[in-house]
Amino acid sequence: MKHLIAPSILSADFANLQRDVEMINASEADWFHVDVMDGVFVPNISFGFPVISAAKKHAKKPFDVHLMIVDPDRYIPEFAKSGADIITVHYEACTHLHRSIQLIKSVGCKAGVALNPHTPVFLLKDILSELDLVLIMSVNPGFGGQKFIPQTLNKVAELKEMALLDNPNLIIEVDGGVGMQNIEALIKAGANAFVAGNAVFAAENPSQMIADLKNVDTN
Ligand code: DX5
Ligand code: ZN
Repeated sequence: MKHLIAPSILSADFANLQRDVEMINASEADWFHVDVMDGVFVPNISFGFPVISAAKKHAKKPFDVHLMIVDPDRYIPEFAKSGADIITVHYEACTHLHRSIQLIKSVGCKAGVALNPHTPVFLLKDILSELDLVLIMSVNPGFGGQKFIPQTLNKVAELKEMALLDNPNLIIEVDGGVGMQNIEALIKAGANAFVAGNAVFAAENPSQMIADLKNVDTN
C-alpha cells in the first residue's frame, strides 16, 4: 500500500481555515488529521465540535480524528456526528480500551489507538486484531512543531512485526516531527501513514511539501 499523508489542521491558520482546508483538498494529501486536546490529558487546548463541523463542510477527504482527551467514550458519538471518519483514542486515557474501540465501530468509524512515546507497543497485543490503525506518537502530545524522538523507529518496526502476525492490514501512523528528513526511514521501518503539521504549514509551498512527502522515493 502506498503510504498516506495526513496534514494536521492544528498547524493551519484558524482565521483562514476554509482556505487551508481547500489547499488540502486540492493537494495529494489523503486525510485531514484533526487534533483534539482537552487541557487535561495534554497541557494544551485545541478545538472541538463546532470547528470540526465547520471544516467538514468544506473538506473532501476523510477526517482522521486524534483524541487527546480523558474519558473519550463520553464524546465519541458526537465526534462521529461532527464528521470523524477515523477516531483514535489514547491507550493511556482508556481504562476499558476494548469497550472504547467497540463504541467507535458502533458509530460507523474506523478505530485507532494512539501510544505516547513511553508506552510500549507490546501492550496492544491482545487488541491488535480489533484495530484499524495504531498511531505512534513520535513527540509528547500537546503541541505541533516538536522534535522527532528517534526511538520511534524501533517501535514502528516492532509493531510492524506484531501486525504481520495478527493484523496485516493494520495502518501504522506516525505523528509528531515528521518531515522529509525522516519519512523514508519510517516507511522502511513499516509505517504507512504520516501526520505532518509544521512540515506542511511552515513550508513555503504547503501543497508542494505534501506532494514531496507523498512521492518520497523508498527504493
Ligand atoms: C501533537 C499532535 C500532532 C501535531 C503534529 O500533539 O498530535 O498531530 O499536530 O505536528 P508536527 O507535525 O508539527 O509535529
Ligand atoms: Zn495528532
